Amino acid sequence: MTHDAVNLDATRHEILAARPVHDSQSEMAEIVLPNDANPLGALLGGRLMHWIDLAGAMAAHRHSRNYVVTASVDHIDFLVPVRVGDLVLLRSSVNRVFHTSMEVGVKVFVENYIADTAKHVSSAYLTFVAVDGVGHRLKVPAVIPETEEQQRRYDDAGRRREIRRSEIDRRRKSR
Ligand SMILES: CC(C)(COP(=O)(O)OP(=O)(O)OC[C@H]1O[C@@H](n2cnc3c(N)ncnc32)[C@H](O)[C@@H]1OP(=O)(O)O)[C@@H](O)C(=O)NCCC(=O)NCCS
Repeated sequence: MTHDAVNLDATRHEILAARPVHDSQSEMAEIVLPNDANPLGALLGGRLMHWIDLAGAMAAHRHSRNYVVTASVDHIDFLVPVRVGDLVLLRSSVNRVFHTSMEVGVKVFVENYIADTAKHVSSAYLTFVAVDGVGHRLKVPAVIPETEEQQRRYDDAGRRREIRRSEIDRRRKSR
């Protein structure tokens, strides 16, 4: 075996080593500007979905250390309106890894720094698939839940995957 082959093996081994959830934890912040809002000054749902996708991808990149594509976004609720001038915080982390895919949770908060308030705006679950530079799917390292909350999210992600898979099967059969 050449030195290059040994180094490549070592790099692959390191990339595939299981990682704790906190390695993927990411945070993104945006100030809502007039261009992000509708004529009533409320944040556009589509803009928030875009930010959720980006925040989710950050966690997926950090965990997989590879390129990722969004395979699906589960149901998203918008719980409270967000206004121009508000500060939007998006927190994301990998909930569970399957083979080439991983579920990422994104939780969104809005802060109003004048009123000094913070509210939960939205939560979403996204599935990302790791791919190489030409789009071939890649195995993702396992994720290690370290807290009770992370373990709960890990268990729930397994249940959500079953629901997604049966829905995908149902759609394929009805085509
Ligand atoms: C997502 C994608 C890679 C899946 O490829 P595919 O050939 O359908 O692959 P498979 O059905 O074998 O599934 C591969 C993995 O994706 C998961 N997957 C596929 N469709 C999914 C969906 N709708 N929701 C959640 N997971 C999904 C599978 O469960 C599987 O996960 P696993 O390897 O961890 O078990 C492919 O559909 C794709 O490239 N879509 C376009 C992605 C994109 O352009 N996103 C927006 C821009 S980033």
